[in-house]
Parts: sequence; C-alpha cells; structure tokens
Amino acid sequence: MKPPNLLTMANKLNPLLALSLIILCAAAIAAGSDLTLQSILDDDGIAAYFADQPDYQNASRSFNLRLPLQPVAVAYPNTPEEVARAVKAGASLGIPVSARSGRHSYAAYGLGGVNGHLVVDLSGIKDIHVDKVTGIAVIGAGNRLGDIAIALFNQAGRALPHGTCPLVGIGGHASYGGYGFTSRQWGLTLDAVIGATVVLANGTIVEASALQYPDLFWALRGAAPSFGIITHFHFHTFAAPTQPTFFNYFWSLPLDQAVSAISLYQNFSFSPAIPKEIGFELNLFTGTNEGEIKLNLQGSYYGSPENFEPIVEPFLNAMPDQSTEPQVNVTSWLENQELLAGTTLASTDPSTGLAVDHDTFYTKSLTTPLDTPMSLDAITALATWMSVEGWNTSAKNWFVQLELYGGISSQIQTVPSDATAYVNRNSLWTIQFYASSIDFMPPYPEDGIPFVDGLYNSVTANEPDAYKYGAYANYIDPLLTSEEWHRLYYGSNYDRLRQIKTKFDPTGVFTFPQSIPPL
Ligand SMILES: Cc1cc2nc3c(=O)[nH]c(=O)nc-3n(C[C@H](O)[C@H](O)[C@H](O)COP(=O)(O)OP(=O)(O)OC[C@H]3O[C@@H](n4cnc5c(N)ncnc54)[C@H](O)[C@@H]3O)c2cc1C
Ligand SMILES: *[C@@H]1O[C@H](CO)[C@@H](O)[C@H](O)[C@H]1NC(C)=O
Ligand SMILES: *[C@@H]1O[C@H](CO)[C@@H](O)[C@H](O)[C@H]1NC(C)=O
Ligand SMILES: *[C@@H]1O[C@H](CO)[C@@H](O)[C@H](O)[C@H]1NC(C)=O
Ligand SMILES: *[C@@H]1O[C@H](CO)[C@@H](O)[C@H](O)[C@H]1NC(C)=O
Ligand SMILES: *[C@@H]1O[C@H](CO)[C@@H](O)[C@H](O)[C@H]1NC(C)=O
Repeated sequence: MKPPNLLTMANKLNPLLALSLIILCAAAIAAGSDLTLQSILDDDGIAAYFADQPDYQNASRSFNLRLPLQPVAVAYPNTPEEVARAVKAGASLGIPVSARSGRHSYAAYGLGGVNGHLVVDLSGIKDIHVDKVTGIAVIGAGNRLGDIAIALFNQAGRALPHGTCPLVGIGGHASYGGYGFTSRQWGLTLDAVIGATVVLANGTIVEASALQYPDLFWALRGAAPSFGIITHFHFHTFAAPTQPTFFNYFWSLPLDQAVSAISLYQNFSFSPAIPKEIGFELNLFTGTNEGEIKLNLQGSYYGSPENFEPIVEPFLNAMPDQSTEPQVNVTSWLENQELLAGTTLASTDPSTGLAVDHDTFYTKSLTTPLDTPMSLDAITALATWMSVEGWNTSAKNWFVQLELYGGISSQIQTVPSDATAYVNRNSLWTIQFYASSIDFMPPYPEDGIPFVDGLYNSVTANEPDAYKYGAYANYIDPLLTSEEWHRLYYGSNYDRLRQIKTKFDPTGVFTFPQSIPPL
C-alpha cells in the first residue's frame, strides 16, 4: 500500500489543517521508507520481516552477539528472480543491500555490518546438483558447508575444499577464500569456482565465468559481497579421498618450551618433505598449569594411511612428551568431516545446534609471508603474551591458530596473486587470534579487544619491514582502518577492484563497512 500524497490534499484545505497535515506528512515520510519497502516486497510476493514483527528478532540475530544490529528488513527470496526484485527494491529506495548465506561473518556483515540494511537471506536457495559425468556442481548460495559435503558425496562421491565448521555458509566462505585441510592439494574454495549466477546492483541476473564478464568473475573470487549477490555457484569438484587420516596431538608447555615448539612448528611448516596431501594447523590455548600454553596439532592426511606417520614423525620426535593420548583415525570421507567438525554435518540435525549457534568474540588475522620466517623475537613475544596475559584476560576462551597454507607443494600458491581478487597467495600460515567471552554470551569483556591486539602486535611489532604480511577477509576484522584493510585484504589488487566496482555498482547498492568503494 502506497502512502497517499498528503501535501496535495492539504493544499485544498484550510491553512490550519494544511499545517497539521504537513507535520503529519513529515512524520509519515520519516517512517515511510519501511512501509514502501514492505509494500514493494509484498507486491513481489517476497516474505520479509520488519522491526515491528515478531519473527524479526530471530531473523536479524547475529552469530557474533558482540555486534547486534537492526536491519530495515530481512527478506527471504526463493529464486534468483526474487533476489533481483529485492535488490531493485533496496536500490530504488537508497537502502544498502547485503546478502546473507550461513550468517557466520565475524563482523555481522551478513546483516550489513551497520544498522539500516536490507538483508537478502538466501536460505530459500538451497539446491545442490552434481553432474556425474563432468563432476561440475551447481550449488545454491543459501547452503551450509556440512550439507554441501553430504550432498556432493552422496550424489556422486565428490568433494570440495572448504572449512571444517558445518554451519558456515558457502556464500561468504567462497566469496573471501575458504580454507580446509584439503586446500594444500585442491586450493581454496574460491579456486574451485568456475562460474556464478549473480544479481547485479541494477537487478540484472548474469552468468559470470572466465568467458562471460571475466572482470566480474575475477572480482567475485575474493571480494564478491561488494559486487553482487551470487545465487548459485558452479564448482569443479574432486573425487572424495577414500581413506583419510584424522590426527590430533596435545602438549601443555611452559613458556620456554612453548617458544621452541612454535619455532619447531615453523621449521616443520617450511619442510619440503610435507606433501600436498596433508593439511594441518597448530592451535594454542590456555595450558593446564598457570603460565603454560596448550598446543594442539590437528589436521588430516588424504594419501594412503601407511604413508602418514613418516610425515609427522620428525616433528613429533623433536617435541616434548604429549600431555594426553594422541588421536589418529582412518575413516570414510564423511566421518573425517565429522571428526574435524566435532559434530554431525547436517544443519537440519538438532544436535548440530543451529538454534544455539552463536559466540561473543573479537578476532584478528595475519597471513605470514612465505619468503621470511617469523623471527624468534616475534615468537617469544607472542608466547609471552599468551603465557602471561592469556592467564589474566577475562576473555578466557581464546585461541591462536596457525593454519598451514603454504609449503613448497601447496596448490594455494600455484595460482598467481593477480589471477583472482584473493591476493595473499604466498603465505606460509594464516593466523587467527580469537577471544570469546567466558560463556560465549554478552557482555564482551572490556579487556578482550586489547588482549587480541596484544597477540597481533606481538608479531607485527617484532618483525622487520621485509615481513610483508596480509590479513584474511573471511576472518573479517571490523576495527581495521581503511588504509589497513585495503592493503591487508587486497594489496596490489585493490585498484583494479575499484575500477570493476565502478562498472558494476557505481552508486554503491552493495555498501557495507569494508566494501570496495567505486572510484
Ligand atoms: C565457527 C566458524 C568456523 C569457521 N571455520 C572456517 C574455516 O575452517 N576456514 C575458513 O576459511 N573460514 C572459516 N570461518 C570463516 C568463514 O569462512 C566466514 O565467516 C564466512 O564469510 C562466513 O560465510 P557465511 O555465508 O556463513 O556468512 P554470512 O554472514 O552470511 O556472509 C558473510 C559475508 O559474505 C556476504 N555474502 C554471503 N552470501 C553471499 C552471496 N551469495 N553473494 C555475495 N555475498 C555474500 C555477506 O554479505 C557478508 O559480507 C569460520 C567461521 C566461523 C564462525
Ligand atoms: C529462527 O530462524 C532459523 C533460521 O531461519 C529457523 O531455522 C528457526 O526455526 C527460527 N526459530 C524460531 C524460534 O523462530
Ligand atoms: C628452526 O630453524 C632455524 C633455521 O634453520 C634454526 O635456527 C632453529 O634453531 C630451528 N628451530 C628449532 C626449534 O629447531
Ligand atoms: C579415533 O581414534 C581414537 C584413538 O586414537 C579412539 O579412541 C576413537 O574412538 C576413534 N574415534 C572414531 C570416531 O573412530
Ligand atoms: C590483569 O588484568 C587486569 C584487568 O583485567 C589488569 O588491571 C592487570 O594489570 C593485569 N595484570 C597483568 C599482570 O597483566
Ligand atoms: C546492468 O548493469 C550491467 C553491468 O554494468 C549492464 O551490462 C546491464 O546492461 C545493466 N542492465 C540494465 C537493465 O541497465
């Protein structure tokens, strides 16, 4: 329903009534954009929740409860055409539009990152189809990683490289990277994208690929949320490994031994003896006794199980005694995914915890250069911060994760840094520094952000200028300055991204706190 034109009506009436109608009218305009958006979406038959409706609360819930937000509305289109109509509705009213897939953005960017967005939730677009002959999968952008792993395997014995948390959405994950333990042999999730169905800022639906809209296709693989709403991804898939080996080793070490262990892990990460069929990370947490740091080497090997132990033995033999029994499991592909997730994979399974899926946290990330090892000073400063402040902070549930991206055989770095918008190809590790509140619920403690800053600064303040680090946009950090995120997320690809943004979204329909600005 459109609001009547009160001013025209008022002109025909006496001056006093006209004045009160003008005041009334001004109020109607101030509150009116909701009504208008609502009426357009209603007319288009697209379900949407507005702030005054009971379902709005749940629909606008953020995964990171540190950052509650109030979008104008959350719309639930079921087809690419409905997504296009929702984008046009937002664009026509000057309301910024944000896509939402699995809701797992660290900075609530699926809700726009600030108040006042039209959220286009893609959970109604969940088709998954794999062509058994070509192995090409077409995947609706509302799917989550666990459901995708199950469908690809059950339909055709296929798989994709992606992260371990089954509830992460493919929309954000494949837009900004997508790292899992198969990434050293198969690449990032975005490296498996061969095409995408995209709704542009003007509501046009296009197919982007190496042949059609190649500049858009380039930008989608690393910065998609600034360029359009992907409704379907086209992926080339891989034969699922038949006998994956999951492994988990634990130590709890005092400061001096933890410093040596991290240095050893770095040497191991650089070792040419590590084949691309293995992926792993070193996780660091609060240790068993005060001042200690817990270390956990976790990962998976996708070659023949009998070849696994010789790969990790040099590292394990050089490390101190483990604090608990190691865990090593040779399983099927889907059981391997479950071991990595620590839960079932299906998002529809209540035990996966979709309804209680949340955290209250802050995170920073660093991609470390392949040509310069982290200095012993930096390792010592980082370990000292964990050993001292890690025991003192009220953000008790913290971890530091050193994920192996590089090593001489890694597929991630065989792709040139300018072949896609994802620039940080030549990295040894992607590190995340993550700290949650004590019970994963608000409020977030005041010393949480300074604690995370301290972890990050321990490394960056103790490195020479030659240490050219970046950051990972899937671990998005809303507190980076614009100079920082331009450089750390996009580096030498930033200027080209701005040119492409100018072509496809000149008025900034897809604008959010760290979106690529048009020229
Ligand atoms: C518990 C947890 C575990 C994680 N594990 C890993 C891991 O193992 N490896 C890893 O690499 N990352 C991991 N991540 C990070 C994860 O990849 C990012 O948070 C990712 O961006 C989340 O995507 P989403 O679709 O769930 O989020 P959303 O909040 O829905 O979206 C994230 C961003 O992408 C945009 N977007 C979403 N869908 C689309 C679309 N269809 N078209 C255009 N833009 C879109 C949104 O607007 C937003 O800016 C993890 C995150 C969490 C919370
Ligand atoms: C909240 O939203 C989720 C995701 O859309 C949905 O699965 C769930 O049923 C909703 N819960 C309630 C209580 O409405
Ligand atoms: C790692 O390698 C460097 C350079 O070869 C060496 O100086 C250092 O001692 C090694 N670290 C450990 C813990 O073995
Ligand atoms: C994995 O292996 C450990 C021993 O290494 C064993 O205790 C555990 O039950 C196994 N889990 C599964 C799911 O096979
Ligand atoms: C521990 O934290 C408190 C506040 O949380 C701070 O006042 C104090 O200085 C810290 N102590 C150390 C040793 O860092
Ligand atoms: C929408 O934008 C695209 C990309 O700039 C352009 O090719 C297309 O012609 C536009 N469509 C309309 C209807 O303006």
